[in-house]
Amino acid sequence: MHTDATNTDDAAPANETVISVRELVTHYGPRPILKSVELDVRDGEILVIMGGSGSGKSTLLRHMLGLEAPTSGTIRILETDITAGDARALAELRRRIGVAFQSGALFSSMTVVENIVLPLVEHTDLDPVTMKIMARLKLEVVGLAGFEELRPSELSGGMIKRAAFARAIIMDPKILFCDEPSAGLDPAVASAIDDLILDLRAAMGMTVVVVTHELESAFKIADRIAVLDNGQILFVGTVEEVRGHPSERIQNLLNRRPEDDTIDPDAYLDRLTREYGPHPDERRR
Ligand SMILES: Nc1ncnc2c1ncn2[C@@H]1O[C@H](COP(=O)(O)OP(=O)(O)O)[C@@H](O)[C@H]1O
Ligand SMILES: [Mg+2]
Repeated sequence: MHTDATNTDDAAPANETVISVRELVTHYGPRPILKSVELDVRDGEILVIMGGSGSGKSTLLRHMLGLEAPTSGTIRILETDITAGDARALAELRRRIGVAFQSGALFSSMTVVENIVLPLVEHTDLDPVTMKIMARLKLEVVGLAGFEELRPSELSGGMIKRAAFARAIIMDPKILFCDEPSAGLDPAVASAIDDLILDLRAAMGMTVVVVTHELESAFKIADRIAVLDNGQILFVGTVEEVRGHPSERIQNLLNRRPEDDTIDPDAYLDRLTREYGPHPDERRR
């Protein structure tokens, strides 16, 4: 199977590839979700995986984190083949990547600082005082200095996201993964989170993989955008390349209004039908 995804970096300087996804296929039950995904992520870039709601972005991300095993295909991250079934290698790799999940995923019974030191507790033998100092530094980086002792219920949506980022970067990861970082936030707060992602990359020089369905955010932060649609990466390119792409399919995705995702049931049904074929009831007719 051939897609544009393998074909976009003819002239670009060869930055080291830190993530390489090959022929990734995955199913939920009998239903194919990813159908031969091909993707390379380069060292130091912000790569945004963009696609409509339900297109499989989170599924792809969970596979890249080794949280789910694919039907077939391989994923190499920082020289580790995480699809090879080597649990020790995967555990070792997890020390070198950070994850900021969609919901923030903070433990409500713990304070901000207790949440943020969790990866250190799990992966290191550092003493509690050192951990606290490291947490303070990271809270400062994400703009949450002084909020150490609050609980998640006392934080705004934007602050919870910031705390989640502080936890994701506590181990100075080589790669940071974020799933819908600005989901559920007011536009101004969402925009501030975009700025935070740009600042973090600049300050820490890491590679960032962001999954989002928000075009504005993708266009603002991406070095390159990978367009996921119908289980495949349709195209990978710069913001300009994606915006100017002649494919009608890609232009339709770009011109999709946000409400198409949520409140237009006809458009939703139409999309489902196009993605998965006619409903069994219709086939029988
Ligand atoms: N654990 C699961 N079991 C069954 N179906 C799932 C599961 N997770 C996601 N799906 C389905 O797979 C498709 C892709 O989901 P997802 O990766 O969450 O999409 P996105 O993140 O792009 O919105 C959706 O149709 C969703 O309903
Ligand atoms: Mg998702």
